Amino acid sequence: MKPLKFTLITLFPEALQPYLNSSMLYKAQDRGIIAIDYVNLRDFGLGPHKSVDDTPYGGGDGMLLRCEPVFAAIESVKADDPSAEVILPTPVGTVWTQELARQFAGVDCGRPQSQTQHYIILCPHYEGYDERIMSIVDYPISLGNYVLTGGELPALIIIDSITRLLPGVLGGENSAAIESFSDGDNLEYPQYTKPAEFRGMAVPEVLLSGHHGKIAEWRAEQSRLRTERKQP
Ligand code: ADE
Repeated sequence: MKPLKFTLITLFPEALQPYLNSSMLYKAQDRGIIAIDYVNLRDFGLGPHKSVDDTPYGGGDGMLLRCEPVFAAIESVKADDPSAEVILPTPVGTVWTQELARQFAGVDCGRPQSQTQHYIILCPHYEGYDERIMSIVDYPISLGNYVLTGGELPALIIIDSITRLLPGVLGGENSAAIESFSDGDNLEYPQYTKPAEFRGMAVPEVLLSGHHGKIAEWRAEQSRLRTERKQP
């Protein structure tokens, strides 16, 4: 199977690399499950200062990403892979959910083996971007109702939440499948490991009973209670 590819267009690759080169995301790359490429937006900047931003028409604070460097960077990636699709982290996008992560990972439909799935993630910075950039974006994605300084953190979250769903990334066969939010609705039941008692807090008896039927029942009930409590 070909790796799921992410190309990150960013001014700050050094902000992304430490996380992507650690732990599960490192392993996923090492195992050829995902591949990550970096394109420095500065390389497509204009003039001697490689400028990528400018002031907004109509006035206002701050600087906006200009169209030319962004279009040039995306087109350079698409020249090699016209099928690549563009994700733009933006507070005005569709809110990212577990269901979307599953769709992007292709876990429900099973990604065709022959096809390289390739996402370009454009990480904006500064106060915003020229709205015309939206015309080359396939998926505007918001991480929630708050505003961040750039698209790097959302890019990491998007890649992380997709990658952990891909076969061969997590240890247990179905640990991704039973976890919180996995079906988009139900929260995971509480879990415990050794010791059986810690500072007066005991692990629920039923989990030590070895009775698989009762354990499954308890877990289902806990999952239901948690989900009920969380929902407004
Ligand atoms: N960029 C700035 N804030 C953001 C958010 N909440 N989600 C996605 N991208 C963003």
